[in-house]
Amino acid sequence: MRLLFLLSLFTFPVSVSAQEPIMPLTAVPGLSAEKVELGRQLFKDKRLSRDNSVSCETCHDLKTNGSDSLPRSVGIDDKRGATRSPTVYNTTYNIAQFWDGRSRTLENQVSGPVHDPVEMGSHWGQVVNKLSQDKTLQKRFENLYPDGITAANIVDLIATFERSLVTLNSSFDQWLQGDESALTEDEKEGYSLFKAYGCISCHQGKNVGGNMYAYMGTMGDYFADRGQPVTKADFGRYNVTGNEVDKHLFKVPSLRLAALQKYFFHDASVSSLEDAIQMMAHYQLGRQINRSDVSKISKFLHTLVGQHPELSQ
Ligand code: HEC
Ligand code: HEC
Repeated sequence: MRLLFLLSLFTFPVSVSAQEPIMPLTAVPGLSAEKVELGRQLFKDKRLSRDNSVSCETCHDLKTNGSDSLPRSVGIDDKRGATRSPTVYNTTYNIAQFWDGRSRTLENQVSGPVHDPVEMGSHWGQVVNKLSQDKTLQKRFENLYPDGITAANIVDLIATFERSLVTLNSSFDQWLQGDESALTEDEKEGYSLFKAYGCISCHQGKNVGGNMYAYMGTMGDYFADRGQPVTKADFGRYNVTGNEVDKHLFKVPSLRLAALQKYFFHDASVSSLEDAIQMMAHYQLGRQINRSDVSKISKFLHTLVGQHPELSQ
């Protein structure tokens, strides 16, 4: 056993990232470029909504941060959703989709907004019907799928596009891969603090989150203190399992693009990253963090933002 371990040390030199609880983001291999491109178009196609007024991109703006800049997204007929819209970037590395993880896969997720009466208010029959009247589109589908325009093929295309939405090459990932100069001293210190305070126990892995569930309010009653009535959406994973112990359990969000967000938490109760960091320290770790440490953690979180052709920076 020990010999094998020593041997592997010689064969694979230990890099910085091998010792860290956060890993660099990597592109999903083997995606068909044609499918990604057609999926991209469908993601931006308002015909997926009942009255052609809303596309996926309406609430998941790829240029800014893959979500929107509102506390609650506005869907069809100006209706508002129950939570803030999360980013669609890097979701391929989440264990499940939605704040409560009610969809296991990206494929499962797509039907949600299409049918949701406050998002797109449509259904697959209607969408397939509308898209089938577009002869150019029909041809493009037929080049990729023998059965042409179907709900399953639309889902496959959008999910394939979403798998291409990975924000690569952030300065933090460059540092992980050995470039010492990619981070400033403050940023490195911010990362050390992120680990030392214990943020890392929930926000970790490639996505700096997205790989486990945790209570909102592990060390304090966030919902009692918030001063707003508790809504169904605040119950989190309980809405999926019906188990009392799952009340207020949420998928830990990825912090990869947190620095680009306007609002924070599922209920958008906070509108600055510094306040979100302080709230997390209080409610998740039972600690107070001084201003200088908050600022360094914030600087570290800014280094997690990578690049993608759709994201303008
Ligand atoms: C009206 C606004 C709106 C529209 C339109 C919309 N979404 Fe969303 N999206 C949201 C909100 C709000 C959530 C969070 C809902 C929840 O978790 O309960 C969400 C969640 C998601 C998630 C889960 C991300 C995560 O980390 O959990 C994905 C993926 C997603 N949407 C993709 C899409 C796709 C694909 C479309 C188009 C077919 C779409 N959305 C249309 C508002 C919208
Ligand atoms: C016990 C697990 C846990 C710990 C520890 C933890 N978090 Fe969180 N974090 C969560 C959960 C769960 C949410 C989502 C809560 C919600 O939306 O209601 C979250 C949300 C966030 C958000 C908002 C993200 C978004 O998309 O809205 C930020 C920023 C954040 N955490 C940073 C931190 C920092 C910084 C620390 C350390 C001081 C930390 N977290 C410690 C579980 C944790």
